[in-house]
Amino acid sequence: MFKAFDLSKAFLYLRFSMSKIGVFDSGYGGLTVLKSLVKELPNHDFVYLGDNARAPYGNRSFDIVYEYTLQCVNWLFDNGCDLVILACNTASAKALRQIQQVDLPKRSDIKNVLGVIRPTTEVVGNFSRTNQVGIVGTVGTIRSNSYVIEIEKFFPNIKVYQEACPIWVHLVENRLVGMSGTDFFVAHHLQKLFLQSPNIDTLILGCTHYPLLIDSIEKCLPPNVKIISQGEVVAKSLKQYLKLHPEFKLEKHKPGLVEFFTTEQYYEFNGMASLFYGNTVTAEHITLHL
Ligand code: DGL
Repeated sequence: MFKAFDLSKAFLYLRFSMSKIGVFDSGYGGLTVLKSLVKELPNHDFVYLGDNARAPYGNRSFDIVYEYTLQCVNWLFDNGCDLVILACNTASAKALRQIQQVDLPKRSDIKNVLGVIRPTTEVVGNFSRTNQVGIVGTVGTIRSNSYVIEIEKFFPNIKVYQEACPIWVHLVENRLVGMSGTDFFVAHHLQKLFLQSPNIDTLILGCTHYPLLIDSIEKCLPPNVKIISQGEVVAKSLKQYLKLHPEFKLEKHKPGLVEFFTTEQYYEFNGMASLFYGNTVTAEHITLHL
């Protein structure tokens, strides 16, 4: 028979063997994905980490994006997450493969990291009639060619056109959404994309910050162009993944708990984050040292 302290030990074991889903982005952008994840999986617990102090990642080298991302992933692992979603295209393009192939196999516990590029490329063919798809993203994501390589695997008939938009994340992070100057830079890059082919009928916003620019983007798009909402696609894909991977013992509540952490000061983060998330965000500050 269990004694009282044995029961509490059993409870503690159960408590710490259950885990949450970690969601990481360089800054605010991943909150657009988190919003869709919470909608699709309302009873799961999530921990969001934005590396705002070091954002943006878009123009950084492969090595630095990898180091920063790995550090944030390890923080999420150490803070109760067995599964982490890189809700950042730049990190998915430049760090995910190395983390999956080099870092995860060194661990003895069950952990995984998933990105946002693969789920998006798996479905893009269901949207395009002309088989011409446009991608906008950070310099890092576009130069990595990750979208071109992944789409080729699933839909070899699709022709992909890409445009790096280095200033868009800065416009978002500097709170310039809705300004006429922002409209100018959004139009500039979309015109360059559509000059490559006027027959593009599907646009992937290959950066999780870009949904914040949706009003400016829609103003410039030809009427028949469909924008793929990455948050919804990633959320559906995660739901499917969880069905196939019962080894992840995830906490559930009604409703699930969502916690927010940032490497910036929380008072800098909260206001802007609430706009992205569409709900009040109260974050805690954490410090990461390389
Ligand atoms: N939101 C990120 C992405 O999806 C990164 C933006 C950045 O830090 O440059 O690419």
